[in-house]
Amino acid sequence: MKNTIIAPSVLAADFANLQRDIEMINASQADWFHIDIMDGVFVPNISFGMPVLEAITKHAKKTIDVHLMIVDPDRYIKTFAALGSNVLTVHYEACTHLHRTLQAIKAEGMKAGVALNPHTSIDLLEDVINDIDMVCIMSVNPGFGGQSFIENTYSKIEKLKALINRKNASTLIEIDGGVTDKNAAQLVKAGADVLVAGNFVFKAANPTQTISDLKQLTSF
Ligand code: DX5
Ligand code: ZN
Repeated sequence: MKNTIIAPSVLAADFANLQRDIEMINASQADWFHIDIMDGVFVPNISFGMPVLEAITKHAKKTIDVHLMIVDPDRYIKTFAALGSNVLTVHYEACTHLHRTLQAIKAEGMKAGVALNPHTSIDLLEDVINDIDMVCIMSVNPGFGGQSFIENTYSKIEKLKALINRKNASTLIEIDGGVTDKNAAQLVKAGADVLVAGNFVFKAANPTQTISDLKQLTSF
């Protein structure tokens, strides 16, 4: 049976009630915490930084999946490791020496992820796929929660799955942006292993139930 990883995105939480929202995720069927770090340079928005991540990891009892939407991520790899990140994802478009960056992330004991903007081709991963623990396919343009899902994502997942199989890699496929109960099952059928959901979870009347629903919909 497929056990899809559900990763609520804390970006959509109520920051004035952050501990409450973290405890909600701890007690839910969610598997990971997805943490979006934006620098206002790589993306046209600023989210939150190290002190907030430190406050989150103090209470979070599940895997910490950090998505760096920042330029020159190499500068902060050690810092994010020290703050308790378990998976550290950098953007393909932000890394001149991606292979070196991936080794540096793993040297700090974290899983290494690579995120692709909607315009970035899966083909570019051909020579580095065996070094990547997780590919995050952006299904919206990064920078904001609550955007609508880009339909071309399904064919990117299928292409990535074929590459992973052809190269005998064990890379996970994460989908980030616009995930709802309308597309979750189809994403998993196409090959997704991890679903990030921000607004769909936190703006729901019952976030705990919404997480269970996503888990249910993607277990078959
Ligand atoms: C977008 C972020 C996403 C975002 C997802 O730049 O990387 O993780 O929080 O939010 P929703 O699920 O609302 O699209
Ligand atoms: Zn994200």
